[in-house]
Amino acid sequence: MVRPVTLAVMIITIDGPAASGKGTLARALAQRLEFAHLDTGGLYRAVALHMLREDVDLSDEDAAAAAAEQLDLGLLTDRALRDQATGQAASQISRYKGVRSALLDVQRRFAKAPPGGAKGAILDGRDTGSVICPDADVKLYVEASSAERARRRAAELAARGETADFAAIQSEIEARDAQDKNRSQAPLIVPTGATVLDTTELSVEAAVSTALAIVQTAPGNKPL
Ligand code: DC
Repeated sequence: MVRPVTLAVMIITIDGPAASGKGTLARALAQRLEFAHLDTGGLYRAVALHMLREDVDLSDEDAAAAAAEQLDLGLLTDRALRDQATGQAASQISRYKGVRSALLDVQRRFAKAPPGGAKGAILDGRDTGSVICPDADVKLYVEASSAERARRRAAELAARGETADFAAIQSEIEARDAQDKNRSQAPLIVPTGATVLDTTELSVEAAVSTALAIVQTAPGNKPL
């Protein structure tokens, strides 16, 4: 009997604080390597957006867990997903254990069997290398100073035609860092075995080529 050959999927995780450039890096790497990409923050944002729209109290943990269990994937393409208010609400509800466990399976399934039969998966978020895929082939932790992250976020908002107050954005980013790093459930940490990439002074191209070099030389890496 001929058994179908299942090739192991290469898994890359990219974690880091808000606006560190991990999403941009994950998308660029996914394109270069032809891997599938999952922005895990989008899942938390979709849960938060649903709650904001339905006027559900964000401090109601059970309601947040119920919203995560019935995640509406249509919200992943909603324009309001990227709003600062949605990000802040996502950070708030992502502290809840019930929310995190409801979203765990969908993330692990994506990593193990990426859509479209892709030969690899890239997940970016806060706990992808520490909790979701602790055995990932390559783990990156992307960071940048809060001033540089605020500058990037302000430029992004301006490009969308929204007004951006730099000081307010920086303090929101710092508040979100504190919330994401100090929570008890899956706090933002540098995962064991991760390579730290500080992008404060790196262009997108430089960050992508540094990350590609890390991927190519990772121990146990399958040739790409
Ligand atoms: O990366 P982002 O700004 O889209 O994430 C929004 C919030 O979602 C973030 O502040 C914390 C939460 N989050 C999380 O707890 N775990 C993840 N893997 C990704 C995001």
